[in-house]
Amino acid sequence: MFKNKVWMITLVITLFGSVQASGRESLLKLLANNIKATADDAMCLDCHSGVADNTMNFIHYPAGAGACSYCHTAKPEHFGGDNPQGSVSINRKAENCYTCHERKDENPVLHGALADVDSCVNCHNPHSSNVRPLLRTETVPALCSTCHDISVQGKSQHGPVINGQTCLNCHTPHSGKHQKLLHKPAKDLCLACHNKEIQATLNGARTIPNIQKKLEMAGAHPGAAGSCLDCHKAHKSENNRLLTSPWSVKTYNTYAEQENPYSMCFTCHQTDMLKKTDFVSDTGFRNDTKKLNLHWFHVVDAAGSEDKSRGRSCKICHDPHGAPQAHDVNNTWFMNGNPIKIEYQLIDNGGQCTKSCHATRQYRREN
Ligand code: HEC
Ligand code: HEC
Ligand code: HEC
Ligand code: HEC
Ligand code: HEC
Ligand code: HEC
Ligand code: HEC
Ligand code: HEC
Ligand code: HEC
Ligand code: HEC
Repeated sequence: MFKNKVWMITLVITLFGSVQASGRESLLKLLANNIKATADDAMCLDCHSGVADNTMNFIHYPAGAGACSYCHTAKPEHFGGDNPQGSVSINRKAENCYTCHERKDENPVLHGALADVDSCVNCHNPHSSNVRPLLRTETVPALCSTCHDISVQGKSQHGPVINGQTCLNCHTPHSGKHQKLLHKPAKDLCLACHNKEIQATLNGARTIPNIQKKLEMAGAHPGAAGSCLDCHKAHKSENNRLLTSPWSVKTYNTYAEQENPYSMCFTCHQTDMLKKTDFVSDTGFRNDTKKLNLHWFHVVDAAGSEDKSRGRSCKICHDPHGAPQAHDVNNTWFMNGNPIKIEYQLIDNGGQCTKSCHATRQYRREN
């Protein structure tokens, strides 16, 4: 009889997963008929009324039904009222939870928190809680913080870590198919949100562009073809824009190799591309007729300006994710909010810029 009851409950709970909210209610009734308090159970609440505490928002179904014996066995001497040693058992084992619930440990990446046999009750209160689903803490981050030291405050912060369901936006708490318990492989996860424009508020109000779209552009940056985590952190960063290395978000900067405002780029590229001389093999952006390195000219020499703090940022011409034109060149730049068109064309051994910051200019390489 007992075995049948457990089987029935398992079936009903498995069904819960696939039914709509309305059907769920009638199944709960069905379940209520099957989870029953024994004669002994009926006495428990006389002395332990706090267990099915009605002031809590959520009561675990079997505790609410007074069916204490699914998890406790009391010997007669327990009813004496002084709880002698060993007079009542507490079953904390995950296997006991699994008699009613679907297994939580069957995916290949198992959360370390489920490693020990008594693990479920570290996070869930077996009786009742104010927070769904029977969590032991008021918030999810507080729950995770009981074991992890995860800091989310930094120079740049990330919306989904700070707001809403937080950790659960990206991680599954039990076991999953992907590294670090992520809902999807990291890049797919990032692009599940960054496949549209987002109004940012945390680190300066602005519209964050659709990153997915940039990755698909003709001038996609090959450096963004791998993981977003090559350049970004997920929780927070001491650099701008959650980057793994320093990066100035300003469009004009003084360039110095020691205090490089564009360090992020040079975790993969070589700063030799910005040397005034001996550059020939280091960059294709050069005018051999004038023996001029055009990367040096724009970025370091500030396009010949006296004021070297007017050095052009990489991002005026390139987008770190991808741009519409060849060599990852942008087609629009905004100067004080006004759009400036950049028309870039490839020519034999070089390129040409038309009607943009300056009149049409060409550069050619000799080899
Ligand atoms: C006559 C009163 C009384 C009844 C009835 C009673 N208990 Fe207890 N129970 C106690 C007392 C007293 C303690 C020890 C103090 C405490 O932990 O609250 C206790 C302790 C417990 C504990 C904690 C044991 C531990 O080792 O920490 C559990 C679990 C428990 N009871 C379950 C039950 C269950 C299940 C029932 C019904 C089958 C039940 N009790 C019936 C009085 C009672
Ligand atoms: C789903 C399993 C489950 C059910 C059902 C259940 N308990 Fe418990 N109970 C536990 C576990 C597990 C603990 C130990 C909690 C811990 O380690 O923090 C516990 C702890 C207790 C304690 C010790 C004090 C406390 O609150 O931690 C008492 C008393 C108790 N239960 C009484 C009851 C009574 C009375 C019922 C029925 C109304 C009941 N329990 C139903 C699993 C259950
Ligand atoms: C006797 C069967 C039974 C046992 C044993 C049992 N549960 Fe449950 N549990 C239920 C039922 C029934 C519900 C309510 C179903 C629902 O609303 O999805 C529930 C609900 C829950 C929920 C809330 C789900 C939600 O979506 O809000 C959690 C969490 C949970 N149980 C954890 C546990 C843990 C942890 C254990 C072991 C300590 C355990 N249960 C043991 C029957 C059981
Ligand atoms: C590290 C903390 C943690 C541990 C350990 C843990 N859970 Fe959970 N559990 C959660 C959180 C957080 C949620 C809410 C997930 C969500 O809303 O996406 C949850 C959700 C649930 C739910 C409801 C939704 C669902 O997935 O069915 C059940 C039932 C459940 N847990 C049972 C268990 C059982 C059984 C164990 C032990 C094998 C366990 N949990 C261990 C944190 C934990
Ligand atoms: C009861 C302790 C405990 C709680 C609570 C807990 N964890 Fe863990 N977590 C662990 C342990 C143990 C490991 C494995 C040790 C390690 O890899 O550092 C781990 C590892 C992880 C990992 C790395 C997995 C991997 O594959 O490298 C992630 C991600 C994680 N936890 C997220 C969470 C989130 C999110 C929460 C809150 C919902 C949470 N943890 C709550 C104990 C806990
Ligand atoms: C925007 C998605 C996202 C959110 C939200 C998020 N994480 Fe993570 N988390 C990640 C990614 C991606 C990694 C893997 C980082 C890596 O491998 O470099 C990770 C790694 C982890 C790890 C493994 C250790 C480490 O630092 O690499 C833990 C533990 C963890 N997260 C806990 C949490 C907790 C706790 C929260 C809530 C406060 C949270 N995460 C919120 C995406 C997220
Ligand atoms: C090669 C390094 C690199 C890679 C790889 C990369 N990013 Fe970025 N990302 C950057 C840089 C640099 C910035 C700052 C640009 C700026 O100053 O406007 C940035 C900014 C962002 C921003 C904020 C944009 C804004 O206007 O504020 C988002 C969102 C973003 N990246 C998402 C992603 C996603 C999602 C991926 C993976 C598909 C990814 N990034 C891969 C370097 C990279
Ligand atoms: C659940 C949705 C979601 C996921 C998943 C997500 N993001 Fe975000 N991201 C946002 C939102 C919303 C903002 C804007 C927050 C704000 O400023 O208000 C943001 C902002 C950013 C920013 C700009 C930070 C700044 O300095 O302002 C970067 C960079 C970024 N995300 C990268 C990533 C990367 C990399 C991943 C994958 C690890 C990722 N995002 C996953 C929603 C998401
Ligand atoms: C994770 C490594 C990585 C980082 C960081 C990185 N790149 Fe790249 N980048 C590449 C790779 C790989 C290529 C293709 C091979 C090459 O040209 O070196 C490339 C090529 C380029 C190209 C040439 C594209 C073409 O079609 O000719 C430009 C422009 C570029 N990167 C700009 C940047 C800028 C600007 C930054 C900093 C925001 C940056 N990169 C950071 C890996 C990276
Ligand atoms: C004034 C516009 C402009 C600026 C500013 C600029 N670039 Fe470029 N960059 C180009 C053009 C045009 C090319 C294509 C050269 C060719 O192959 O014809 C290019 C090519 C590249 C390449 C491919 C290899 C090479 O050197 O030819 C990389 C990598 C690169 N840029 C990185 C950067 C980085 C990093 C910055 C900032 C430190 C930067 N660029 C600033 C216009 C610019």
